[in-house]
Amino acid sequence: MEDTGEGFLNLPAATDGDPTLVWSEVFGDEQPVQIELGIGKGRFILDAAARLPDVNFVGVEWAAKYLRIAHHRAGRRQLANIRFARTDAREFVEFFVPAASVQAYHIYFPDPWPKKRHHKRRLFNEGFLREIERTLETDGQLWLATDFADYFEVMLEVLHTSRVLDEIDAEWLGVRTNYEEKSLALGKPIFRRVLKKSGL
Ligand SMILES: C[S@@+](CC[C@H](N)C(=O)[O-])C[C@H]1O[C@@H](n2cnc3c(N)ncnc32)[C@H](O)[C@@H]1O
Repeated sequence: MEDTGEGFLNLPAATDGDPTLVWSEVFGDEQPVQIELGIGKGRFILDAAARLPDVNFVGVEWAAKYLRIAHHRAGRRQLANIRFARTDAREFVEFFVPAASVQAYHIYFPDPWPKKRHHKRRLFNEGFLREIERTLETDGQLWLATDFADYFEVMLEVLHTSRVLDEIDAEWLGVRTNYEEKSLALGKPIFRRVLKKSGL
C-alpha cells in the first residue's frame, strides 16, 4: 500500500445521499468485518489483520500523523485485508457503518479526558453504545480496555443500560496495543470487558 490514498476509505460527504458503506464493495469480498476505533499507530490492528487473513479490518483514527504511520506499516506488511478511515470514531459508526454488519469492535485505551469539564468529549456514552449495538451482528463482540479506573466505571454504567450486550469471557491472542505496553510498564491496572450481542 503506497501513500497514494489506496487503503484509505473514501468517505462520502453527508450531503451525498445515503453515506452507508457496503463492505463487499469496500473489500471486494464477503469476509466478516471487525473495526478498531482510535487505532493510534495501529500496532494491534496490524497484528490482528496479519493473524486473521479471513477477516477484514477497518482502523479508524482522527490523528493524521498516527494514521499515516499505521497505513505505511500495513503497506510494508502487504496486508490486503485492512482499510483506514481518518475521521471521528463516533461519526464513523453512526453515519457510515451498516446495521448488523460488524463482527467485532475493538476500543482500546480511548482518551480518558480526565478533567470534569472535558468528560463530554469522551467517546463512550449511551448514544455511542446504541450505535455499537445497532451495527454489531448477532453474536458480534465489543472489546474494551482502559487503564483509567474512573472512565471504566462510566463505561460499566453505560453498559448497564444495554439490553442486548452480555459480558463474556474471552482471551484475545493478538499483540498488546502501544498504550497497553506503556500502562503495563508503569504497573498500572488494566480494566477489560468483552461483550457479546444476543439475538433479539
Ligand atoms: C490513548 S490513544 C490509544 C491508541 C491505541 N488504541 C492503543 O491502545 O495504543 C487514543 C487514540 O484514539 C484517537 N482518538 C481519540 N478520540 C477519537 C475519536 N473520537 N475518533 C477517532 N480517533 C480518536 C487518538 O487520536 C489516539 O490515537
